[in-house]
Amino acid sequence: MKYLDNVFIEMENINKVFPGTVANDDISIKVKKGEVISLLGENGAGKTTLMKILYGMYKADRGEIKIDGKKVNINSPQKAKKLGIGMIHQHFTLVPVHTVLENVLLQLNESYAPKYVENKIKEIGNKYELVVDPSALINELPVGFQQRVEIIKALLGNSKLLIMDEPTAVLTPQETEKLFKFINEFKSEGNSVIFITHKLNEVMEISDRIIVLRDGKKVGSINKKDADREKLTQMMIGREFDFEVKKNEATIGKKIIEVDNVSIVGETGNQILNNISLNISAGEIFGVAGVSGNGQEELADAIAGLKKISNGDIRLMGKSIVNLNIREIINSGVGYIPADRHKVGLVLEMTVEENLILKSTYGQKYFNKYKLLKSKKLKIDTEKKINKFNIKVSTSKALVHSLSGGNQQKVVVAREVTLGDKLLIASQPTRGLDFGAAAYVKRTLEKEKSKGKAILLISNELSEIMELSDKIGVIYEGEILDIFDRNEADLKKIGLLMTGVRGESFEK
Ligand SMILES: Nc1ncnc2c1ncn2[C@@H]1O[C@H](COP(=O)(O)OP(=O)(O)OP(=O)(O)O)[C@@H](O)[C@H]1O
Ligand SMILES: [Mg+2]
Repeated sequence: MKYLDNVFIEMENINKVFPGTVANDDISIKVKKGEVISLLGENGAGKTTLMKILYGMYKADRGEIKIDGKKVNINSPQKAKKLGIGMIHQHFTLVPVHTVLENVLLQLNESYAPKYVENKIKEIGNKYELVVDPSALINELPVGFQQRVEIIKALLGNSKLLIMDEPTAVLTPQETEKLFKFINEFKSEGNSVIFITHKLNEVMEISDRIIVLRDGKKVGSINKKDADREKLTQMMIGREFDFEVKKNEATIGKKIIEVDNVSIVGETGNQILNNISLNISAGEIFGVAGVSGNGQEELADAIAGLKKISNGDIRLMGKSIVNLNIREIINSGVGYIPADRHKVGLVLEMTVEENLILKSTYGQKYFNKYKLLKSKKLKIDTEKKINKFNIKVSTSKALVHSLSGGNQQKVVVAREVTLGDKLLIASQPTRGLDFGAAAYVKRTLEKEKSKGKAILLISNELSEIMELSDKIGVIYEGEILDIFDRNEADLKKIGLLMTGVRGESFEK
């Protein structure tokens, strides 16, 4: 018997309070069979919390969940899986040193013969174009393939509803396209997806219906065909929003950073960076375009002193910095927003205040001559940053661990943007940020540039590179294939170079 217009799951009057925050305030949603829902809302709106309740990771303070009209008690992810609910988290839950097969075996509730599971991985891979080699090590797979493993894990558990929390934040446009193909295929079999993203173009492409949250409350639900960018923005933030980032024509000053024939050879002799040369002057944003995994993170790490180079030289204001330690490089005026905030950007068990001054402490700024913290100054500075970057947090003493994903990113950006007074390396600076916050960060980069900083911008989002950069270098397999001035940058050419197609072949 069909229940209520094919409704699969209902969450009714869900409430969840954390100390100081009402994360979910009386939220009710329905998910139909064969429906893709986008869950939209600003950073800290309560999206992840609501989904963790549905997946049995959090217990709601109030409210109930029904599946096919029957009340269920989802008190653990195991229970959720049994009921046909799978979740793909933004931070993957894979063991990096194990193979794909081992990772899949690890999470199965019952024990199966490895051969059987291996065949299943291949079968699912072929069916949904999610092919991955079962014997590959996770840490050798690109992020898009790691995500495939997460999806396969969920599908092996016979999920009928897949929850995806910002799955595209770490994907390249090509990988996103593949993911969307999978979602459409999965949905056509009568399955459902709840999809979280901050990118409105993705929302408009993939969803049947959009549910908008604001400050822990459900603002509304709207069919895709009735939605547009303006309407969704209005629902999310309660007003219209100016997306435009004004480009500042800064005066180009002297050379700040020179990367001179830099190479990095990996442990197995593989060439990670191959003879890279570029320089950035004061008042200039240099954008690195490229498919992730082509050496851009290593380049950033090398300049920041986190990775040793095998050959070449890196000079800051004319002086070599390759033999300086990280502390000395920071003190010479280099700020770094790393791509992976959990690994290197933040100490999750420390407070927001502590994270905001992490790097400044040695610099004495917050200490008096008896080595005691100047707590009043610290408090004022912290509150300024929290306001400026609109970091949603009940108190500056809250642990970073308790912040929503986007608000964690804001803490890193707030700290680093003002830190490096010569060079700022910004790697995926807007990843996970809602569009208001993303626009603020972009405006801040523009402002810092016009103050005379040199900025190295690394981003998966070609549109972001095009929007902000004065010069654009395309990186492919550890090499900078070409460098363009912004006004002569041609999107098509850059796109081709990103996939390794060089000059001569353009005309074909
Ligand atoms: N474990 C926790 N302890 C305390 N507070 C929490 C916890 N998890 C979430 N919160 C708070 O609940 C609110 C909602 O957070 P949630 O992670 O659901 O937001 P979100 O909509 O997913 O945001 P984002 O887009 O930034 O990921 C935030 O204010 C957050 O600080
Ligand atoms: Mg979230």
